[in-house]
This record gives sequence, C-alpha cells and structure tokens, in this order.
Amino acid sequence: MLMEFIYQNPALSPQERTNNLLSLMTLEEKVGQMMQISYNTLSAEEAEDWASNKKAGSFLHVLGKKAEHLQELALSTRLGIPIIFGIDAIHGHGLMNGSTIFPSQLGMSCSWNPELLEKAGRVTAREAAADGIHWTFSPVLCIGRDLRWGRINETFGEDSYLIGVLASAIIKGYQGKSLSDADSILACAKHYLGYGESTGGKDAYDTEVTCRKIREVFLPPFKKAIEAGCATFMTGYQSIDGTPMAINKKLLYDILKQELGFKGFVVTDYNNTGSLVTLQMVSPDLDDASKKTVEAGNDMIMATNDFYESAIRLVKSGLLSESLIDEAAGRILSIKFSSGLFDVKKKSGYASRSVISCKEHLQVNMELTRQSIVLLKNDKNILPLNKSTNIKKLAVIGPNADNLKAQLGDWTFFTHPDPNPEAVPAFEYYTMLRGISERSRLKGIETVYHKGCDILDDENQNIEDAVSAAAACDAIIAVIGDCVEQNGEFKDRANLDLSGAQQKLLKALKALGKPLIAVLVNGKPLCVPWLQKNADAVVESFNSGILGGKAVAELLYGDFVPSGKLTVSFPYHSGQIPVYYNQLSGWHSPKYMDLAERNALYPFGFGLSYTKYQYSNLVLSSAVCGKEDTVAVQVDITNTGEYAGTEIVQLYINDKVSSVMTPEKELKGFERVSLKAGETKTVTMSLQISALAIVTPDERYVVEPGEFEIMVGPDSKASSLLKKTLTVC
Ligand code: NOJ
Repeated sequence: MLMEFIYQNPALSPQERTNNLLSLMTLEEKVGQMMQISYNTLSAEEAEDWASNKKAGSFLHVLGKKAEHLQELALSTRLGIPIIFGIDAIHGHGLMNGSTIFPSQLGMSCSWNPELLEKAGRVTAREAAADGIHWTFSPVLCIGRDLRWGRINETFGEDSYLIGVLASAIIKGYQGKSLSDADSILACAKHYLGYGESTGGKDAYDTEVTCRKIREVFLPPFKKAIEAGCATFMTGYQSIDGTPMAINKKLLYDILKQELGFKGFVVTDYNNTGSLVTLQMVSPDLDDASKKTVEAGNDMIMATNDFYESAIRLVKSGLLSESLIDEAAGRILSIKFSSGLFDVKKKSGYASRSVISCKEHLQVNMELTRQSIVLLKNDKNILPLNKSTNIKKLAVIGPNADNLKAQLGDWTFFTHPDPNPEAVPAFEYYTMLRGISERSRLKGIETVYHKGCDILDDENQNIEDAVSAAAACDAIIAVIGDCVEQNGEFKDRANLDLSGAQQKLLKALKALGKPLIAVLVNGKPLCVPWLQKNADAVVESFNSGILGGKAVAELLYGDFVPSGKLTVSFPYHSGQIPVYYNQLSGWHSPKYMDLAERNALYPFGFGLSYTKYQYSNLVLSSAVCGKEDTVAVQVDITNTGEYAGTEIVQLYINDKVSSVMTPEKELKGFERVSLKAGETKTVTMSLQISALAIVTPDERYVVEPGEFEIMVGPDSKASSLLKKTLTVC
C-alpha cells in the first residue's frame, strides 16, 4: 500500500501516529473527532453529512450495511480517519437479534465468578466485532444501593469490592489480549461517578455524596477498571451536590486523568452537554455548556450535535483553548490507533460472523446462567423435585412463565433504545414454561400452564381458571416478578411489592394446600416477605437471558446443584430502603417501629445449595501485623450434605474503632470452592493490610493501627460468620 502520510505507518507507536495526524488536522476536523452522533435521531442524509463533511469521530446505535456505508464515506475523506462505532452490548450484543444474550449484569454477578464473566465478555466482543462494532458501553460500575432506581438490573450489585473484581474481569474479556485483535472491542467503565446513588432512587437526579464517600465507596471499582486497562469511561448523567458530573473537573480531570493517570478517553452520556442548559440549568447557553464540558475533562460528546459549531466558535473567538481540543482529539485518535482501527479494523468484515451464537458461546452462556440463579428458600428440601414423591402433574402458573421479554430484561432489540417489541427472536430460547415442560416430560411428569394475571394491569386476570388448572396438579411452580416496563431508564419505582394481581394469585394458589415453588423473574429485588413465609421454595433468576428457562428447570430437577449467591440485599418493605449490608453503625433504633425486622429479608451474599457446608478452624497467618503486610486468612470448609457442590466463601472485615465511622462489615475477598459430598478443603485468602485503609476527612487513604475483626462465612449475616481479631501496629 502506498503511504501518503506518516500516521499511516503501522510500525510507529500510537502516540507517534497521533502526533503526526493531529499536526495535519484543521480545527474543524479535530472537533469532528470529538463528536459522537446518535444514528437513530437523524435522516440518512444527515448521517452522511456527519460522516463525510463534519467527519464525526463516532456513531452510536448503527449496525450492518448502514454502518459500513458511513465508514466508507469516512475513509474516503481527506485524511481517511475511520469512525468508531459504539453500542450498548450490555449483557451480550443484545441489540442485534440473533446474538447470544446473557443474564443481566445483576444476574451474572450472582455467579461471583470472574473467570466466567471474562469469558462472557469475550463472547460479546467476538459477536459485536463480527457485527462491525468497535466499542461497547459496558460495564456499569454503579453501586446498586437504592433499589427504587430503575437501573439496578444493570449493576453488579451493591458492593464496591465485588463490582471492581467482576468489572475488571469482563473488561479483560471485551478487550482481549490486545485491543488491536480483530475480535477485541473497547470497554467503557460507566457511569463515572456515583450515578446509582441519586437521591430517592430518581434516575439522573442529584447525588448527595461527599468527597470522602467518593474515595471510600464509589471510586475504587473505577480504579480497578483502569488497572484492567479499560480504554474508555463514560460520564454520569447526575449531579453531585449540585455540580453536574459532566462539568465536575475535580473528578474528571484532576482525579481521573491526573491522579489516577487514566490514558484513554472520556465520553459524556447522552446529551449531557445540552442538559446543562435544558435540565440542570447551570449554563445560560450551549457555548457556556460546551466550554465547561471540555474544560472539565470530557473528550467525546455524545449526542449533543450543536457542540460542533459551538466548540469551533469558542476556539475561534479565544474563549476556549485549542490545546484542550488537541488533547481530547488526541486521546480519541490514540485509542483508534491502538485498537487497530487504522489497520486491521479499517474495512468492515474483519471478523467472521460465524461466531454469532455459535455452540461454544452457547456453552458459556449456559454455564453462566446456571451459576447466576440463587436458591433463596428450600423448606424440607422440597427441591430438587426428583427427590419428592408422587409428582405426576405439575402446574406452571404466572405472568412470567411464558414471558421472554421479562426474562431478557433491558437492553435488547425488544426494548431500547430502538424498541422492536414485535420482533421474532432469531435464536433458540427457553422461557421458564418451555424449560420446565420439556424437562418434566423427560421425567414422565405432565405439565399444565396458566398465566393467571398480568404484571401491570390489575383488571387483566383470570385467577379462578389458574387455580382450577393448578387444583388438578400435585405441585405448583408460580413464576412471578416484574417486567421491562418496570426496569431501566425512566422507570424508577416507589413501590417494590409484586404488582398487578400477582399477590392475589399467589394467595389463591397457596389456599390449594399443595407444594408451592416460586420462581422470580425480575430485574431487581422485590419485597417478597409473603413468599419467604408461605412458599415452600423460592428461586431467584433475575433476567436470566435466552437460556434462563432451561437452567431453572435443570435446577428444579436437581440436574445441577445451585451455587449462586445474592450480590444485592432484599428488603421486607420499600420504606426500608436502603437495606445494603455495609451500612454504618449508630442508628438509635433497633429497627423501624412499624416493621418487624431490622435487617434485610435476604442479605448480600446469601444463597442456598442442595448440599450443606460447614465452616471451621478460622486461622490468621499472624494475629499481629504491620501496615505493609499481607495476612493469610485460612478456613476449613466441609461439604456435610449429599451432593457435590460449589460454595462461595466470603471474607469480611470490620475496623473496630477508627477516627471516622466505618461500615459494620466490608467484603475484602471471596473464593469459589468445589467440594464432593463429605469432602473438606482448606481455603486460603490473602488480605493486604493496605485494603483496610480508611479515608480521612482530608481525603487521604490511611491504615490506622488497632484491632480489626476478620470474618469468614457463607454470607454477610453476622450469625453466619466465624471471627478472629487482627491487630495492626
Ligand atoms: C444513556 C445511558 O445512560 C448509557 O448507559 C448508555 O450507554 C447511553 N445512553 C447510550 O445508549
């Protein structure tokens, strides 16, 4: 190939190529690189104009031939800078009908299995790359503590440490061995920072977090994302203490880019810059908003198209320094070079489409789905069903039994941002009904189905018929939960009780006096104390993806032994929120005076198995240590039940007395351990003493000498944990 420009030489480093390219670019071309254009909002001609004349650096939400066409236009411009195409491939490349759709982020987090999440990231990358995508806006590192928030389903749960571990794993999966490999895509750590914590669970609203809390709780997962090499970050929608994140220079520039040394680029969220004028009212006009957005440290501007003229005008009139435009465009170009966009990924079709939904991907999905399901109650070992006697006929009842959309959850081609609810799935899928009916048939058990009621509409119910269908059966599987209309952006909820006539349906089924097994298909925790009291078994599947029904059926029949554990606590009542496990001590009351229980209905880390585990012999390698040391925490786990299984062993700490208040418990490690029936294994987890640091009021990380309680057990409940004291000198 004839090389006209130095930057076209792949033998040079991304930085050398970026420097050369930047030196050749006009101001307009550099601002163009900062533009991310939302394809769905434009006519085809407008999109072409952005690709060929304004030379937009990126488009989002465009696939296939349309994307190929835009890329051809971009490559035929003066400098031929390729477009970077981004999409929300959140739990698989779900906006493309036909791809592998995994459980939601919340669902997959319940596996506590970083290796498997890395594989899921790989699968998503291979399928998205085959579809011409270079970049996924994933993972979400928000902390899911206010369960009213509509986007809990998108989080890895409520714990900052676990979120960091799982996020790092999936980032490695997306980005592969090298960013420039044909089947690697860029990851995006979002939403930086504190977005999940908006007051009242109101999406994108103001967040009342302090700088100290930011360093203690919200920043650590993002630090881990940088360590994992995450190429891009996305700015949150919300404000912190009155300052919109999009213009929070301290967090975006001073901390992220300077202090933490993040070398990739930052993209705003959708129209963050415009919202400064229209929603958040901190800028009188777009020029002011654009100037503040750039000066705060954002590099790419998502879906504020007028930023283009505004930024050019600001630089030409001397109100915005061109060096900031150079820095932003330079960061974007450098990632384009290092991810192979100018070389291997220049033309579409660089990755084979044969991988999409291939057998290997199906296997990863199947394993992750199995490990994502959490058994919450199993009275008198009613499960697995093949052990219980005399079930010849099984009733499958409820609005989520045959509801693929509710099962898949948000961010698929059915839902948003480009909803196609009538689409016919181009993949094999298992609703709960299909999975349970097929597996039952294999076991010689007949099934009958009735929907019973709707999830949203109180009027739309036929409980009588559902009950008479169930009356003719030996046991009932009730599949209830929530639906896509109750989860996602713009869908915060005030009331997390089972909606519609679901509770009425459950009570009517219970009155039959038959074994009642509840399967929850839901985006996030709901308030289900009635189920805990009245159902014989409760299975939590969250949004379990296209294979959810198969995995749940296998679990019900004991074809595998459940190992999933909750990464988010369940409340008894919506008014009890937040109910996350790692709260500060000091509440005067023992509980709310009008609620019987103080703690969560199901706590963080909780999940049952068909077998039983016993913890014993907690030993620390040293009871006294220094601030720089690492202590080995050792414990014996015995499988005392009848089945082989996998236990998720959890390590918590408590700083007994510290200069600032610290949580009652904080997760600092975990280990998955597989044990045959009767087997004992010794598990060793290493605890770096630096991880015990508190954040001081002046925002320093300091390990304070004194006593720490080291706790190990199966979940975060105090009564479940073995304890030892460690003294740090
Ligand atoms: C808005 C959402 O907040 C963000 O998570 C998503 O990546 C962008 N829109 C693009 O769809």
